Amino acid sequence: MLAALLLCSTASMALTPDGEALLELKLAFNATAQRLTSWRPSDPNPCGWEGISCSLPDLRVQSINLPYMQLGGIVSPSIGRLDKLQRIALHQNSLHGPIPAEIKNCTELRAIYLRANYLQGGIPSEIGELVHLTILDLSSNLLRGTIPASIGSLTHLRFLKKSIGGNYVKMDKQTVPDGAKLVTYQWNLPYSTSEIIKRLELLDEEDVVGCGGFGTVYKMVMDDGTSFAVKRIDLSRESRDRTFEKELEILGSIRHINLVNLRGYCRLPTAKLLIYDFVELGSLDCYLHGDEQEDQPLNWNARMKIALGSARGLAYLHHDCSPGIVHRDIKASNILLDRSLEPRVSDFGLARLLVDNAAHVTTVVAGTFGYLAPEYLQNGHATEKSDVYSFGVLLLELVTGKRPTDACFIKKGLNIVGWLNTLTGEHRLEDIIDERCGDVEVEAVEAILDIAAMCTDADPGQRPSMSAVLKMLEEEILSPCMSELCYEQHLEL
Ligand SMILES: Nc1ncnc2c1ncn2[C@@H]1O[C@H](COP(=O)(O)OP(=O)(O)OP(=O)(O)O)[C@@H](O)[C@H]1O
Ligand SMILES: [Mg+2]
Repeated sequence: MLAALLLCSTASMALTPDGEALLELKLAFNATAQRLTSWRPSDPNPCGWEGISCSLPDLRVQSINLPYMQLGGIVSPSIGRLDKLQRIALHQNSLHGPIPAEIKNCTELRAIYLRANYLQGGIPSEIGELVHLTILDLSSNLLRGTIPASIGSLTHLRFLKKSIGGNYVKMDKQTVPDGAKLVTYQWNLPYSTSEIIKRLELLDEEDVVGCGGFGTVYKMVMDDGTSFAVKRIDLSRESRDRTFEKELEILGSIRHINLVNLRGYCRLPTAKLLIYDFVELGSLDCYLHGDEQEDQPLNWNARMKIALGSARGLAYLHHDCSPGIVHRDIKASNILLDRSLEPRVSDFGLARLLVDNAAHVTTVVAGTFGYLAPEYLQNGHATEKSDVYSFGVLLLELVTGKRPTDACFIKKGLNIVGWLNTLTGEHRLEDIIDERCGDVEVEAVEAILDIAAMCTDADPGQRPSMSAVLKMLEEEILSPCMSELCYEQHLEL
């Protein structure tokens, strides 16, 4: 709710300076009428704009993510006014002109992706002043000249890519690390340490499968064809390695069919790498809201299978682990789907480990806002009950097929929970359910909506525990009961 207020109310407030700078960028990008339509001067801040993530509570822009957007203009020098920017991804557009020297004012920058544009001129030597820079990808542009010497002083720089004379040259500054350390959990990975470290070091932008608040996720394929997902967490400051590693050990010991197993951990001088099982179909967020939905929409049964499995995974974390684990970041992008659409909850326990780390921006990713319980937003204190709230939002997302920050609620100053309450009050079930679900019995939808409503109760004390939620879902989905009397009994759980 607070997020909704932050994002969409107070229409009379002037746009923040970061928002102004972005509008100047948009103008220079020459965005066509259909592009960046959510970038509106009338908004109080840019945090809900397409491709933008901000930090909380100061609502400063931390990330610009606009690859493959057919942007055709130049990168405006106003980029330099976004002095809290950590990541800029404008690859695969048609940008031309020089890389503005003003980029040096973005002193927090960790990653610059400008690959596959038509950028001209030289690489500004000022880039060498960006001391946190880890990834600089300027390949496939029309840049000329040599790589400025100043870039050699960037101690964090891991990847530097540039095209020279049309030939693609990759320079990997990572030397074979002396201080590298590899820890494997549960099952020993059947590969030698040096083999894994060698594979990890070879990971490249072509292997990237996604980027989140903690860092970049790569697909690592071993010689025997086995795939792993590697989450690279860039080290922005000295971290408490011992506590971190001890807690990871606990996370690595957890095993459940509906959880993504943590298989190992590798510490390199510049990064921490977490090795997970690779889950083939990627995230529910992509599956539900991406192109796959057009070809193979998730029908009602598939959605219920996902709801049930996710509830099992989460209930296991809360009730079967000792001490119990609060996930803190339940959302569709943290539910991964295997080939048979069995869900696996990912990133459990990670937010707590990394939340103090300056590189972490989970709570500021616009998409996450809608999942957070009101009390968590207010006091920052995550509990099992705030996970239950997020799970309730996930249920609503499965039923409605809408992201919790969908424009249709935000326009009305509501979040998905408020929107749903209005529609259910008016008995407009047909407007609620995603038509791509196929034929569904009204009773079944109502039962799931009731469970979601309990989970998203504003009072955390009134929300059911995850084990109770699981039980209700099992009874509804596995043995749907038709009589009112039977349903009354569910509510007493
Ligand atoms: N184990 C995995 N197997 C397959 N794909 C994965 C795996 N883990 C992550 N991914 C892919 O990488 C993307 C980014 O994941 P990541 O966890 O970094 O970001 P996120 O879930 O969007 O946000 P957050 O950092 O808050 O968790 C996911 O959406 C998913 O597509
Ligand atoms: Mg994730």
